[in-house]
Amino acid sequence: MADRPVVFSGMQPDGVLHLGNLLGALRPWVQEQSLYRNYFCVVDLHALTRQEPRDLAQKTREVAALYLAAGIDPEQSTLLVQSHVPEHAELAWILGCFTPMGWLERMTQFKDRSRKLSSERIGSGLFSYPVLMAADILLYKTDLVPVGEDQRQHLELTRNLALRVNRILGDTFVIPRAKIGSIGARVMALDDPSSKMSKSADSEAGRIGLLDPPDRVRAKFRRATTDSGTAVDLETASPGVQNLLEIYRSLTGAGERELAEVFQGKGYGRLKEVVADVVIQELEPIQRRCHDLLQDPVALDRLLADGAARARGSAGATMAQVRQRLGMLPAR
Ligand code: TRP
Repeated sequence: MADRPVVFSGMQPDGVLHLGNLLGALRPWVQEQSLYRNYFCVVDLHALTRQEPRDLAQKTREVAALYLAAGIDPEQSTLLVQSHVPEHAELAWILGCFTPMGWLERMTQFKDRSRKLSSERIGSGLFSYPVLMAADILLYKTDLVPVGEDQRQHLELTRNLALRVNRILGDTFVIPRAKIGSIGARVMALDDPSSKMSKSADSEAGRIGLLDPPDRVRAKFRRATTDSGTAVDLETASPGVQNLLEIYRSLTGAGERELAEVFQGKGYGRLKEVVADVVIQELEPIQRRCHDLLQDPVALDRLLADGAARARGSAGATMAQVRQRLGMLPAR
C-alpha cells in the first residue's frame, strides 16, 4: 500500500466541467486509480484568483460530486477540498518566500491572463498562483502529477522550487514528475477546433458540459465545426472532424479501421449524430450519480470532511518538518 507512488491532481470549481475534463483527466484518473496513492483535490483557493467567484460552495460540491460520479472511489483515493486543509495556504506562503519573482514573471499563463488587465486590477494571487499549486503538490510528497500540456510550465516551476528549497533546508520535498496525456484524449472546442475545450470560454457552444441534458448535447454536436470534405481518418480529416473522431475513439475504443468502417461515406451529419449518441450514453450514468450525490449535500460534505481529515494527516506531517527546518518556534 504505502509504496505505491503518490499522485496529486486538481481542478478549479470555476465553471462547468466538460467532456474534455472527463476524457482528458477524470477518466484516466479513474482508470489508473488502483495503481497509486491518490489525492484528488477541488482547488477552490485557486478559483479565487478569478476575483468574482460565483456560487463557490455549490460549484465546489458539484466538482466533488462529478469526481465521484465519474468513478473516483473515496475509499481508495483521498478526495479533498483545498481550503479544508489549511496547510495548502500555509505552505504556499512559505514557498512564496523562496520563489524568485523572475520565475513567476516568466509564466506564460500569467502573461496571457494578465495581459487583458492593468496591474491595478489583477490580484497578486494570480501572479503567485503557481506557488499555491507547488504547495498542493509538495505537501503530499507527490511523485506524479497528471495534468494537461498547459500545466507543464507550472510543474517545471514546482520541481525547481522543490530542488531549491531542498538545497536550503536539506532534503524535504520529493521532486514530482508531470504525467502528461499518457492515456487521456485531448478534446478541442466544438466551435473552434484549434483551441482546447475550455471551462471558461465565453461561448457555451464549444463545450459539452458534463451535466448538459441530451438534447443540448445533440444540438451542440449538430453545430460543431466540420467542412465540406468526406475524410474520416485521423490524418487527413480537418481538425473539427478529427476532434469528433477522437471523441468517438476515446469513448468506444475503436481503432483506425473501425472508424473508417463506421463512418466512411456516411457524411458528417451522421458522424455528429453517432458521436452525440455515444457521448449521451457515457454521460447518462454520470449525471444520474451526480444528481443523487447533490440531492444529499450533508452526506457529500461528510465525505469531504473525511477526505480532508485524511489529507491533513500527511499535510500536517510535512508542515511539521518544514517548520522545524525553518527554525520556527513551536506553538505550545
Ligand atoms: N492549475 C491547475 C489547472 O488549472 C489546477 C491545479 C491546482 C492543479 N493545483 C494543482 C493540478 C495541483 C495539478 C496539481 O488545471
